[in-house]
Amino acid sequence: MPILSPVLNKDEIEAVITGIAENISFDYRSKNLVLIGVLKGAFVFLADLIRHLTIDVEIDFIGAASYGAGTVSSEQVRITSDITIDVAGKDVLVVEDIVDTGLTLGFIRDHLAAKAPNSVRICALLDKHERRQKNTYVDYVGHGVQEGFLVGYGLDHAERYRQLPAIYHLKSE
Ligand code: PRP
Repeated sequence: MPILSPVLNKDEIEAVITGIAENISFDYRSKNLVLIGVLKGAFVFLADLIRHLTIDVEIDFIGAASYGAGTVSSEQVRITSDITIDVAGKDVLVVEDIVDTGLTLGFIRDHLAAKAPNSVRICALLDKHERRQKNTYVDYVGHGVQEGFLVGYGLDHAERYRQLPAIYHLKSE
């Protein structure tokens, strides 16, 4: 039987996002910001984040595959769906639900940097240190966690649990 142990509740997520949104709104107040959500997990975070911003932004999505249906990360990352906005000369902020090994964001950052944007930065709701392989710098971090398999608020295990409004550590009994 799976056990869901709370990590961040709805109010805590809201507080974290409010803080990040304030910083982003200030830092990009006179820029042409394009937010790029990483499918699928980041769609919930991105949807809440943009409604806390006080600046105008463009939105796009990118698909990348790194995990299979289980909890073991594959070393291979590939782009499954590319952005459609021209980001040349614009400021790009990649929005991710979780950084784990860092391989996905490292690959996406390099992929987007090749499109000649003015800048590429990274925003992640969760920064998990347990299995970091690539030293991918995260510019805006919501919450750091040491370990565990996390679900809810967009994060899945085998495509389940994304709909949960809070974030949990998934354990098996
Ligand atoms: C998760 C997460 C990140 C990636 C992080 O995505 O959303 O994209 O893994 O892992 P890494 O730092 O070890 O590369 P996942 O591949 O599970 O796809 P999903 O977003 O569709 O759930």
